[in-house]
Amino acid sequence: MSTPAIAAESANRSARLQQDFDIVAFDAPLGAEVIGLDLSQPLADDDFARIHRAHLDYHVLVFRDQRITPDEHVAFSRRFGPLQKHVLHQFALPGHPEMLIVSNIVENGKPIGLGDAGHFWHSDLSYKEKPSLGSLLHAQELPAEGGDTLFANMHLAYDALPAHLRNTVAGLRAEHTYLARYAELQARSPWRPNLTAAQIAEVKPVVHPVVRTHPETGRKAIFVSEHFTTRIVGLPEDESRALLDELFAHSVRAQFVYRHQWRDHDMVFWDNRSLMHLAAGTPDHLRRKLYRTTIEGDAPF
Ligand code: SIN
Repeated sequence: MSTPAIAAESANRSARLQQDFDIVAFDAPLGAEVIGLDLSQPLADDDFARIHRAHLDYHVLVFRDQRITPDEHVAFSRRFGPLQKHVLHQFALPGHPEMLIVSNIVENGKPIGLGDAGHFWHSDLSYKEKPSLGSLLHAQELPAEGGDTLFANMHLAYDALPAHLRNTVAGLRAEHTYLARYAELQARSPWRPNLTAAQIAEVKPVVHPVVRTHPETGRKAIFVSEHFTTRIVGLPEDESRALLDELFAHSVRAQFVYRHQWRDHDMVFWDNRSLMHLAAGTPDHLRRKLYRTTIEGDAPF
């Protein structure tokens, strides 16, 4: 943007009306509800600053009853950074390449979205050099039962590591790849297309620290997941497997987990640098559809 355009955008933002809203923490290891904020309105700078702070403090923010369009969803997401495009471009919302449809719905024999997104615990796009800062998932159609999303607090999980394990993982690095469990998922679900050579080239394996430091708060978090992490670099295969399995089991202990039960038009915004999440699953005969954006983050350190 040119300097006059930046000045105009800045004046436009400060002229926006502030909204009257509250942020109420959940009685849980993470999460808060934002009450009274309408995300269809562009946020005033002060409101944005409060939301930004709350996102860092609580890691999951739940905005109820948001009757917003995909364009408004994208506009709110972009306030936090550039958006990422999912490698399964075929499940982007038409006209919105940064919006992934998460859905188990099959129409005319074809899945309309990624139905088994989040089947294993993970942090979104950890298989990229710059994984996702955060994700925003907006409920479009919900099942009468099931369909919950679980979030685990990786800061609390790190803080609770036994001293010997904390020493063991210090300085270790691990490989993440999108393909880690792709064939396994593909074998049992209708939602996983064969990837083209171009798609495979988009998701080359990457290496990240096993414990990352949150770039905005400085807090440490465990950053390996059962979905995308394949091995610890430099360890023999059996030791690497045993250590990863121990970390996976520890990370999702009940005391670190919040379970989100979706309500109509919920928008949920989480911090992938602080959390892992899991889709608990929807009965096959019930329909579920949500729209997701992901914001690009930093290379983990
Ligand atoms: C995801 O992993 O982003 C999807 C979570 C969900 O569908 O509950």
